Amino acid sequence: MQKAIAITGSVYWIGGNDRETDLFEGLWALPCGVAYNAYLINDEKVAVVDSIKSLSFADYTDRLTSVIGDKKKVDYLIVNHMEPDHSGSIRMMRQIHPEMKIVGNKKTIEMLDAFYGITDGLIEVKEGDVLDLGNHKLTFSMIPMVHWPESMVTYDTTEKILFSSDTFGGFSALEGGIFDDELDMDYYADETLRYFANIVGRYSQQAQKAISKVRGMDARTICPAHGPIYRSNPKYIVDLYDKWSSHRTEEGVVIVYGSMYGNTKLMTDAIARAVAEAGIQNVTVHDASRANLSFIVRDAWRYSGLVLGSCTYNTELYPPVATLCRTLSNKMMKNRVLGICGSYSWSKGALAELQMFAEKNSGWQLVEPSIEVKSSPTDGDLELCRELGKNMALAVKRKKAEQDS
Ligand code: FEO
Repeated sequence: MQKAIAITGSVYWIGGNDRETDLFEGLWALPCGVAYNAYLINDEKVAVVDSIKSLSFADYTDRLTSVIGDKKKVDYLIVNHMEPDHSGSIRMMRQIHPEMKIVGNKKTIEMLDAFYGITDGLIEVKEGDVLDLGNHKLTFSMIPMVHWPESMVTYDTTEKILFSSDTFGGFSALEGGIFDDELDMDYYADETLRYFANIVGRYSQQAQKAISKVRGMDARTICPAHGPIYRSNPKYIVDLYDKWSSHRTEEGVVIVYGSMYGNTKLMTDAIARAVAEAGIQNVTVHDASRANLSFIVRDAWRYSGLVLGSCTYNTELYPPVATLCRTLSNKMMKNRVLGICGSYSWSKGALAELQMFAEKNSGWQLVEPSIEVKSSPTDGDLELCRELGKNMALAVKRKKAEQDS
């Protein structure tokens, strides 16, 4: 039977690791899985922070029972967030603990009805309300649209533990260790950025407000709903989320191509080489047909430069590049530089759509030249690609200087 892991003498991790789901939200690849973190506070009154995705329910209840046994019941289930990776087993929890009160804000309560038909046994909380468990006093703080409207965090003022929901979360299952001092944090930083960029990034403005609130709390331990628990250095994850949500970037260029027969790829290869020759070490190239979008979005969030190359397909952008452009627009990134190129054989289309993408997204500054090639690039076309690569390198160096000044 799975056992709870102690965070302090009375607070426990009772989450689960999911290595079976291939795509988070049906979209984002999970090659290393994901952890659904949930927490138990075993006081005079027993509170659980969040339920869990239904497929991990057995792990969750085993860990819970390993602390409270079969006779003690859960008094409160606190629902920080209603997305079903956390709320999916609320009804099953209710069946086991019928007297349990479900704690959430006004919007949570609307969603409990809409998702699960739950309308009774509820406690509505507002900003700053206190739930007294005996020794532990919990307060609630609203962080709307990080990344759903009902999102909130729960703060244990007794032990200074923040249960931060998706905020400060990351992808990847927890590989034995669950605490920041037990894990390879370089690896988790990558997976945390991939989570941030794809799940939270669009709501960076709201994330900035949440970070301001958190900085005022003086939390000693941060317990997110995914990824590592930060007990040794909670400031580390707050600073990372602050950097990403304020659109501070690293010097580098991500290059993405959509190519049927390799002609557009020839162009982006020439651009990539020119960027590297101009002294940019961080150059990452993705094939839009093969890379999961989540990795491209992560790299676009990390680096200040992006080059998009697309062949024309049935008079339009190549479908994987079209999906990428729509996704990037939705993420509302700012403070980036963009280069574009494309090819066609019997009808133009791709470059015009990339130009529209550049015009529509005010956060992207276009670097010249934009290049359009008929069928296969000539030596002259490839020279233009090298010019674009050099200009991209200069632009990302300028961007770094601006940020450093
Ligand atoms: Fe981890 Fe927004 O759910």
